[in-house]
Amino acid sequence: MSYKHFYQRFLSANRGKQHFACHSHHYWPDVTRDATLKYWDDSAAMVDDKWYHLFAEKLPAVQKHIAGILNTGHPHQIAFAPNTHELVMRILSCLDWQKPLKILTTDSEFHSFSRQINRLAENGNIQVERISTLPFDSFESRFRAALQAQEWDLVFFSQVFFNSGLAVSDLEGLVNAAPDSAIVCIDGYHGFMAMPTDLSRIAHRAFYLAGSYKYAQGGEGCCFVHVPVGCTLRPAYTGWFAEFGELDAVKTGQVGYSLDGMRFAGSTMDFSALYRLLAVFELFATQGLDVPKIHAYVQDLQQAFLSKLESINHPQLNRAHLLVQDLSHHGHFLTFKLDSADIVQALSAHLRQHGIVTDARGDRLRFGFALYHDKADYNLSCLEKPYV
Ligand SMILES: Cc1ncc(COP(=O)(O)O)c(C=O)c1O
Repeated sequence: MSYKHFYQRFLSANRGKQHFACHSHHYWPDVTRDATLKYWDDSAAMVDDKWYHLFAEKLPAVQKHIAGILNTGHPHQIAFAPNTHELVMRILSCLDWQKPLKILTTDSEFHSFSRQINRLAENGNIQVERISTLPFDSFESRFRAALQAQEWDLVFFSQVFFNSGLAVSDLEGLVNAAPDSAIVCIDGYHGFMAMPTDLSRIAHRAFYLAGSYKYAQGGEGCCFVHVPVGCTLRPAYTGWFAEFGELDAVKTGQVGYSLDGMRFAGSTMDFSALYRLLAVFELFATQGLDVPKIHAYVQDLQQAFLSKLESINHPQLNRAHLLVQDLSHHGHFLTFKLDSADIVQALSAHLRQHGIVTDARGDRLRFGFALYHDKADYNLSCLEKPYV
């Protein structure tokens, strides 16, 4: 079974390449091109009425797909933004910055959170504890112990870590171990549409962030947050979309917020990515392609890739350098932690020269896998040659 026919335009524009950076820059299915044009045509045809169409038709349709994929049961709890950083800021703006704050996180969060929190920590009134994700076999128990050790104000961790592909196995357990004092936020960007995810039992407790650029395949511009059911937080960083729909009761002189997830919305944004995302959801729905099937396909690709590598017996790209805990519960990219950043640079340049696109960060080389791969196409023969 191959899914390459969904991606003809990106594949033909990149003929001769083996694209293993899908976890970073995923190819877009052909339907997203039509969706982009449709956004233009709808804008021309409806002009200002477009906004009614968006909020009455398109947004609810995308919310419904996302809520179904995550099994939250609460599509209205989803708010959109062009990137997750905006949503991270909105969540941070719910904290009381007048008092000292305690934040528990990991040492492996993406820059949209880690850079921001490092900058805010310069002001001196926040204590940030970062639990190391490695060694990963003890990560969850160490994080759980830290969760219970203090009255945290914010707990922020990834479902799948961007710098390793390692995946938290007990999301529910970690969320439930957080003290009542804490806002709990999961960065699900590397989990959404990649790993089967069921938030039904924590949908009332945790925020979940993700977006369209990676495994959801809609391109940049459509990130979202699932806001815990019944959430009454009042983001200080707020836009006028946050007062759409029914508003909560407020004291005189206070700003009102939507009762549902829209309370975390911002303001005017380009919704063409939402059109693209919807087109992907609809394509997959008509094909009966769901996340468990996508995940199984990618797991098979990963096994095929690893056995090809094994037969080459490469001095660097081998099991000993692979960051993995459990390949049956792992993100859609494999990370090799090599002996030095120089080796990573040399090897990734060598691979690129031979048409193999990977993603290098420091001493780590990452290989992503996607529906537009066919294991029969994998050709790693350049790894049999010297790379320096
Ligand atoms: C874990 C994770 N979160 C978030 C993002 C995207 O952040 P933003 O939407 O702020 O650019 C990425 C992008 O690579 C990521 O890996």
